[in-house]
Amino acid sequence: MDTQTIVILDFGSQYTQLIARRIRELNVFSVVLPCTAPLTEIQALKPLGVILSGGPSSVYDADAPAADPRLLELGVPTLGICYGLHFIVHHLGGKVLSAPLREYGHAEVTIEDGATALFAGLPAKIQVWMSHGDEAQELPAGFHRTAVTSNALAGIANEERRIWAVQFHPEVHHTPLGPQLIRNFVFNICGAAGDWTPAHFIESTVSAIRAQVGAGHVICGLSGGVDSSVAAVLVHKAIGSQLTCIFVNNGVLRKNEFESVQKNLRDKLGLNIVAVDASERFLSKLAGVTDPETKRKRIGAEFIAVFDDEAARIAKETGGVDWLVQGTLYPDVIESSSVKGPSQTIKSHHNVGGLPEHMKLKLIEPLRDLFKDEVRRIGRDMGMPDDVLGRQPFPGPGLAVRILGEVTPERVALLQEADEIVVAEIRAAGLYNQIWQSFAVLLPVMSVGVMGDQRTYAYTCAVRAVQSEDGMTADWTPLPYEVLKSISSRIVNEVRGINRVVYDITSKPPGTIEWE
Ligand code: XMP
Repeated sequence: MDTQTIVILDFGSQYTQLIARRIRELNVFSVVLPCTAPLTEIQALKPLGVILSGGPSSVYDADAPAADPRLLELGVPTLGICYGLHFIVHHLGGKVLSAPLREYGHAEVTIEDGATALFAGLPAKIQVWMSHGDEAQELPAGFHRTAVTSNALAGIANEERRIWAVQFHPEVHHTPLGPQLIRNFVFNICGAAGDWTPAHFIESTVSAIRAQVGAGHVICGLSGGVDSSVAAVLVHKAIGSQLTCIFVNNGVLRKNEFESVQKNLRDKLGLNIVAVDASERFLSKLAGVTDPETKRKRIGAEFIAVFDDEAARIAKETGGVDWLVQGTLYPDVIESSSVKGPSQTIKSHHNVGGLPEHMKLKLIEPLRDLFKDEVRRIGRDMGMPDDVLGRQPFPGPGLAVRILGEVTPERVALLQEADEIVVAEIRAAGLYNQIWQSFAVLLPVMSVGVMGDQRTYAYTCAVRAVQSEDGMTADWTPLPYEVLKSISSRIVNEVRGINRVVYDITSKPPGTIEWE
């Protein structure tokens, strides 16, 4: 089954991913390629339409990003947005000039050609979001103006060549009728069917995995997080018992997590899971270590050692392992291929990746075309429980980076108790799904307290709750006082060994989300 695709060429706009999301929300598949993608690569996707994104450059910049201009000769419906409009004008013989006034922010657009297919159903005046310096001054032959603002051109078209372009950003929230414009392009102009549903994705991915794997054997490192769980369930759906998942208890998981992940994925969903309780191995490697990076390195190295042992054992039992499943998501794929170049992302240290070279496994990445919320939709469609799909991110080195100072079994147990209370109270207040991460941190600070008639001298626990889009930046969450109050009194009353609770009110930057 061929997937209808809209190709988005990325000229470096911060909104490029949003264009892809807007189109996918219409159940039409879209991919982002760097603007420098070879024409053959674009054509191989048999695009129904092409969108040229915005970008921060001027077409006259020495290093202005450029696509192959022959793209504009293919007869494939094309929509230019902002820089995409300048690119079209510049390469088809028009003229782009630096505008006397930089337009940035809200603007009102008057539609002059309401008959052009891109503007079907829109009123004569629409509110839009502008963000540009340059402006098209002379249009290429065959193009006409379709829209203006009070001082600038806002839209052009050449229906015969199937090229439309707008100066504003229809993909952003601040252009309220933008979705209608994108809908017009995708359905009326490109003729998409809108059949890229979770069911379609699951069906086509499952048959692709079957064809890829054949009779081979596949392993998957489960972390209990959303991505690796959904990837595993998808592969399991395709090849059943040819998949073995490895789930390692590294001794710094949250309370009952080792059991609950097995219950959810093995008992409820039938995955074949090898659950390895390696807590003691990990905790002995952490004894005496206080430096955060050393903790991470030791946990990472030990994980590879355990995974390697298990994989070798599975290979012996099954006659060989050929494939490894990874839960790579689309934003990671775009980050590493776009014109912005590979940027340092949180994911680099996140994924269960970094497995030993010598294993020489071929990769299966069934989620590499999906955004996080799409992964959740797919998971939901496959009947996965909400407590797996709604889980907040949890770092690979687990509670070890939330126990400041040495990680000992006693401290892990204390933090597990406190953490469970934080999460339970936030869930009870109905806030868990609105918060990016919420957790407790155990500080190596002892202070004096009084309980009943007794003097106490015990640990301090910090509570952290943050809002974030992607973990790169974050704001601390103003949790309601009532929630803070119940968290604090429950921890102090129920966790013997902690007698003081403080709330972390640091944003990122300058702080980080984790304390180590
Ligand atoms: P920071 O603390 O850097 O965290 O603001 C950003 C996001 O990354 C997670 N994080 C990690 N995840 N291994 C991981 O798998 C790590 O070593 C690690 N350190 C931080 C953190 O939970 C947050 O979501």
